Amino acid sequence: MGKYKIKVGIIGGSGLGDIANKVLTNSNQLDLKDLKNDFGIPSGNIYTGVINGVDVALLSRHGQGHKINPTNVNYRANIEALKLIGCTHILASNACGSLCEEIGRGQLVIPDSYIDRTVARKNSLFDGTSPRYQGVCHMPMEPSFHPDVADVFEQAAKELGISVRKGGTIVIIEGPRFSSKAESNAFRLWGGHLVGMTSCPEVSVAKEAGIIYGAIAMATDYDCWKESDNVCAGDVIQVFLQNVSKITDLLIKAVELIGQRQWDQQLDHLKNLVESGNVSSKN
Ligand code: ADE
Repeated sequence: MGKYKIKVGIIGGSGLGDIANKVLTNSNQLDLKDLKNDFGIPSGNIYTGVINGVDVALLSRHGQGHKINPTNVNYRANIEALKLIGCTHILASNACGSLCEEIGRGQLVIPDSYIDRTVARKNSLFDGTSPRYQGVCHMPMEPSFHPDVADVFEQAAKELGISVRKGGTIVIIEGPRFSSKAESNAFRLWGGHLVGMTSCPEVSVAKEAGIIYGAIAMATDYDCWKESDNVCAGDVIQVFLQNVSKITDLLIKAVELIGQRQWDQQLDHLKNLVESGNVSSKN
């Protein structure tokens, strides 16, 4: 047993209800009025409970009924709500487009870096909004997605016999529109493997909050760089739903594996990063 009590927040969309109904024990629902924090109101109620002896908290990124678009998701309020209820880890799931031939529809990928093309999102907790995050903090973004969570996802996939690709760069666009063909081709030239709309600023804000964050992405389409193979929302939903049980199984297994590991060192390290990244005078 380490010095931190481990609690795993799961941020996702479809499939979260399945986790809540099938495997969560001691479940409880936290209402929005209790989750409001210095950054505002999170996307929806948070379901807490236990999976294989590990405390978990489930949050749907786009709210109930998928009503909040990627720009309007209050990423900071979501992360702060999870932080305030004691989450040490966040596992995120994302649907995304594939920017390369070898990542096919339904393929799961553990991203290890990103290119942020968003333009209209508040992207730091350290902007004077909250007394809990004072000063100016410059967080290093390598690694951005936590490598130990990537190892956990890889191990979980191996134990479950699910195919995952470890590593990949995800380009995050503002949305809600998809990319143009020229943009899609540019992202490929930049070395992007995936294109999505929601990892930024979630991944960097989680790091500022000192939370260990990892993501599992599912490629649902080939965006629009391929000849006569253009993404549309209906196809994204269809492919995601066809494959969503792989993600839910993986998340459940990953929670179990996180509970078996030691995290003190990693959590201390993140805390130090936040302190040393803060350049404002402390006196
Ligand atoms: N989510 C699923 N497919 C996507 C795509 N092609 N671009 C951005 N986000 C996506």
